[in-house]
Amino acid sequence: MAPVNVVTSAGQYPIHIAPGRLQHIADSVPENATRLVVISNPVVDGFYGDMLRQALASLNKPVLTIIVADGESFKSLDTLNIIYDRMLGEKLDRRAVVLALGGGVIGDMAGFAAATYMRGIRYMQIPTTLLAQVDSSVGGKTAVNHPLGKNMIGAFYQPVSVDIDINVLRTLPAREVSAGLAEVIKYGLILDREFFEWCENNVKQLVALDADALAYAIGRCCELKAQVVSEDEKETGLRAILNLGHTFGHAIEAGLGFGTWLHGEAVACGLVQAAVLSGKVLGLPSTDIKRVRALVRAIGCPDIAPDFGESTWLDLMQGDKKTEGGEIRYVLMSAIGKAQVRAAPLKLVQETLSLTVGDIAIDRDFQQGQAMAQNQA
Ligand code: NAD
Ligand code: GLY
Repeated sequence: MAPVNVVTSAGQYPIHIAPGRLQHIADSVPENATRLVVISNPVVDGFYGDMLRQALASLNKPVLTIIVADGESFKSLDTLNIIYDRMLGEKLDRRAVVLALGGGVIGDMAGFAAATYMRGIRYMQIPTTLLAQVDSSVGGKTAVNHPLGKNMIGAFYQPVSVDIDINVLRTLPAREVSAGLAEVIKYGLILDREFFEWCENNVKQLVALDADALAYAIGRCCELKAQVVSEDEKETGLRAILNLGHTFGHAIEAGLGFGTWLHGEAVACGLVQAAVLSGKVLGLPSTDIKRVRALVRAIGCPDIAPDFGESTWLDLMQGDKKTEGGEIRYVLMSAIGKAQVRAAPLKLVQETLSLTVGDIAIDRDFQQGQAMAQNQA
């Protein structure tokens, strides 16, 4: 597949997508790089660190590896400081290049380290989760969390390249695959009805990590994200549609406690809730709402939201970054493939909540384990 180009104010960069791309990573390293800094976590480095370093060996450039702890709770200023300490201790200069090897946590944090080290050095995204391959590695949003809010300390800072190796998804836990597929569906819902229909027809192949299906889906998502970012790099308008399902999804994550449901699982449920609200506000047909729900179920994600009670729900949604002057704004669809950002009458939001929350088990590991056992029986 030809690389997908992302055009930004700082120039353009390619997204290379191929099985085995990791072995060709040297092709993406800027020629004048003095040193290479691989930032990863023990899980991903354990699987792919050696493969990456072997692929870099032909360049004869010194490679430093910085391993940080795995997990969202380590996407913090403390971990960032550990990274700065190593980079400064090793006296890395301005022509050093960071290679972010991991999911969205590593990508966001390594990207922010690159954005701020000596006022900015180059970095390459090498995403290893499906979510990171279709979303977080593209578009230059970098950040760490603050105790008072997720992704609150960050910068828009674009990578010099994104290298996506589809083979690395084979080691990804099933829940992470499902969570990544939620973001895949999202692109069809906001921008491309045909792609949504393709996902409906190929959902079994996607869940089974069929290489051709994955390559097509990841490629299409990257094309769509590249279009949006090229048009609205700093989210002054259009880019906000990438947050379909996120107003509800973020409320679920915060309400349950971050990490109880994966981000993509909460977004998947939020897609159903956004579809129901879209029916009420913009007349999205009920047949389309049913299709959204069916596809969310088919990828193995939850389609019923936890019942926090209406006032807690509304409070939680107030915290969304799209809220303006106290008014909650939602990404809504007038049709599958057509999205817009707007406020919604409170009464319709209340009706949506009453139709989409329920008394449900929240232990996703347990539920997915049961579903898999049933499938195998
Ligand atoms: P993650 O980075 O925590 O990865 C999930 C888990 O999978 C981790 O335990 C990781 O070690 C493991 N893992 C990664 N690759 C693997 C592989 N190939 N095989 C086996 N295990 C592997 O989670 P994520 O879902 O990739 O990213 C979530 C983060 O992304 C959040 O912090 C979120 O804020 C951020 N995000 C950023 C953007 C953006 O535009 N920058 C967009 C969406 C999400
Ligand atoms: N993940 C949303 C964005 O990149 O804007």
